[in-house]
Amino acid sequence: MTASLSYRFDAGDDCLRTGIGSRESDVIRVTAGKRGHALYGPYVPLPAGRYVAKVRFARERACKGGATIDVCNNPVILAQHVLRGEDIASDGVARIEFALPDPLGALEVRLYSDGSFCGDIEAVEIAGVPGSVEEPLEFSELPTPRVENVVLKGRNLHDGYQRSMALGLFPHLARKIDKDPDYRQARDIAGQRTIVSENNLKNLFLIFKFFLPRLSQPAHVVEWGSYMGGGAIFMAVLARKFLPGCRVYGFDTFKGMPPTDAQVDQHGAGGFLDGVNLNELRRYVRDVGLDNLEYVQGDFADTAAPALRRIGPVGFAHLDCDIRSAIACAYDATRPHMVSGGYWAFDDPLAPDCLGAAEAMEDLLVRRDGLNCEQAFPHFVFRQP
Ligand SMILES: C[S@@+](CC[C@H](N)C(=O)[O-])C[C@H]1O[C@@H](n2cnc3c(N)ncnc32)[C@H](O)[C@@H]1O
Repeated sequence: MTASLSYRFDAGDDCLRTGIGSRESDVIRVTAGKRGHALYGPYVPLPAGRYVAKVRFARERACKGGATIDVCNNPVILAQHVLRGEDIASDGVARIEFALPDPLGALEVRLYSDGSFCGDIEAVEIAGVPGSVEEPLEFSELPTPRVENVVLKGRNLHDGYQRSMALGLFPHLARKIDKDPDYRQARDIAGQRTIVSENNLKNLFLIFKFFLPRLSQPAHVVEWGSYMGGGAIFMAVLARKFLPGCRVYGFDTFKGMPPTDAQVDQHGAGGFLDGVNLNELRRYVRDVGLDNLEYVQGDFADTAAPALRRIGPVGFAHLDCDIRSAIACAYDATRPHMVSGGYWAFDDPLAPDCLGAAEAMEDLLVRRDGLNCEQAFPHFVFRQP
C-alpha cells in the first residue's frame, strides 16, 4: 500500500492514553502483572479508505507476553489481532490492517494486555489510502433474530427477520450493501432502467446472495412486469454470480399496461409506455454480456403458460405488475412450476397506487392458499410450501 495519508503520534502525545501502563520520558511502559488497556487513542478522524495502524515498540526492551491489538470506532471493533510479544517482528512494530467503508470521526488503536504483556510503546502510526472501499457483505453480519430458525407454515420467519431487520433497523448494513461489489455491479448495470426502490433491490440482493443458493434444486427466475427491463437485468447479474445455470425471464407487453379493472386498479391501460424500447433493451443486454436473460413480450394471459412449460422449475418470482388481473394471472400460471421453498416477492402491494395488486395477494395467496408471509418489509415475500 503506498500511503497518501499518514499520522504519527509519539508516546508523549496527550492523545495517546494508557490505563495500566506508566509514562516514562519518551515511552509508555507496560509491565506484566496488570490486565487492561495499555494503550488507547489517538481519536483521529479518517476518511473512508484502506489503512494500516502500527504500534511501534522500543527495540531496547524486548516485548513479551500476550495482548490484543484492535482498531475501533468505539464500541465497534473494525479489526483485531491477538499477539504475543515474542512474535513481534524484529523492527519492533505490531501491524493491523483495516478498511473504512465510511468516514469516521474518532479512530482508536488499543492494546489490551492479558496481564503478561511487557514492552515499551514508542509511537502509534496510521497510514493508508483514502478512497471508496468495496467490501462484500458477509452472511455473519446479518442480525440474529430471537425467533427459532425453523420452517413454520411453509416459511422461515428467522430468514425473513434477518433480511427485514438488516434493511429496516440497521442503517450501517444498508450502507454496507451499497458498497458490496456484487450489489454495485448489478445496480450499475441496471442503471436508470429500473423503477424498483433501492430498499427493494437490496432485499432482492440479500435473497439472491444468501438464501436462493440454499434451494434444494436448481431453478430459474421469472419477473412479471419488466417495463424498461432493469429489474430483470439486476437479477440476471446476481444470478450469473450466485446461481450457476439459472436463467432469468422478464415478461411484459413492452407496449404499456393492458386494460385494468376500474373497481380496484388505480393504474390505467397504456401506462408504463414511456422509455420502453425492447429492441434497444435486448441490444444492451447482449452488449453487457448477460446471456442468462431473456425478455418475453406479450400479455401474460397469452405468454405465461407456454413460456413456463419451456422454462422448467422456478425458484424465484418477482411480481411487479401493479394490477389485480396481472398478479392473479402470473401467480396462478407460475404456481405449478414453483419449487418447494421457492420465493414469491411482491413489489407492489404496499405502494400507494397498487391496491389491486394487494387484493390479488390477499385473495389468492392468503385466503385461498392459506399462506403467511415470510417478510413484510420492505416488500412482501412468501415461500412456496
Ligand atoms: C411497475 S412496471 C415494472 C417495473 C420493472 N420491474 C422495473 O424493474 O422497473 C409494471 C409493468 O407491468 C406490465 N404489465 C402489467 N400487466 C401486464 C400483463 N397482463 N401482461 C404483460 N405486462 C403487464 C406493464 O406493462 C408495466 O410495464
